[in-house]
Amino acid sequence: MIGRTRVEDLPKAELHVHLEGTLEADHLLELARRHDVALPWRCVEEVRAAYAFTDLQSFLDVFFVGCRVLRERGDFADLTHRYLLRAAADGVVRAEVFFGVQTFLGLGVPLADQLDGIFEGFDRARAETGIDAALITSAQRHRTEDDALAMVDAVMPWADRIVGFGLGSTEIGNPPSGFARYFATVRDRGFRATAHAGEEGGPDYVREALDVGVERIDHGVRSVEDPDLVARLAREQVPLTVCPLSNQRLQVTPDLATHPLRTLLDAGVLVTVNSDDPSYFGGYVADNYRAVRDALDLTDGELEHLARNSLSATWAGPPATP
Ligand code: HPA
Ligand code: ZN
Repeated sequence: MIGRTRVEDLPKAELHVHLEGTLEADHLLELARRHDVALPWRCVEEVRAAYAFTDLQSFLDVFFVGCRVLRERGDFADLTHRYLLRAAADGVVRAEVFFGVQTFLGLGVPLADQLDGIFEGFDRARAETGIDAALITSAQRHRTEDDALAMVDAVMPWADRIVGFGLGSTEIGNPPSGFARYFATVRDRGFRATAHAGEEGGPDYVREALDVGVERIDHGVRSVEDPDLVARLAREQVPLTVCPLSNQRLQVTPDLATHPLRTLLDAGVLVTVNSDDPSYFGGYVADNYRAVRDALDLTDGELEHLARNSLSATWAGPPATP
């Protein structure tokens, strides 16, 4: 449309993206061949055919298969570098990226190969495009809280390059209240904290996440089922890192035309738009902006507001004093 803002031209932050979820199908197959990793798929078409998800777990099952091909420091560096160049082309000036070290420790990849590779990717992308990146180490809630606490200790040698800690993986049955000690520990050590909540879990999961001290909510879209919670999120200006194409592909919302982003935005909640696992869900961050613009008739002013929200919700500065 003539005169409309190009989404890529809006400076923005991406606050909810899993590095493992940026592995494109062709790169996945190339790495599988290089490292002789057996996969259930032989070609890009077969990989893409596996991306027909019915819920979060059906996605996670495929996502963890994809993780098997990332074996060496250079794999993590290339993955990170490719994502950041792609993000920079979408107008991202700051990316706070999730990564789950527990997966790769379980696959026998030393922590130093994982993290030094990621930070090499950060440095290469910054030198080439100026993009600023920070790491959020994410604990997996299908594992125990003691596992999460052990993970925090294990990554401390890289503490100066880690901005915060998150909580991801299978939500239902693994509520945030089970990770209260984990979040208290990371906050005590001066890190920022966020949790996936209100994606498949209900508004009670979002309340619990706030109660254990997280500062942002990843997804949070099911908050709309509880008007008191929506009012609290708006009053306290808690950022929600919403991922519309993810919600559509995991059938969290029946379609984008009924996506809760409109209700949340109208209620004054600090909503941001992000990609989650772009190679699995069919779109990077600018694709997500365009998808909600088209489905929800967002104005240029609303798109600018969403981009400004993302910049205001970064953890680029020191932690807010409680
Ligand atoms: N939810 C929970 N865990 C995840 C996701 C998600 O959307 N993406 C990658 N890990
Ligand atoms: Zn996520």
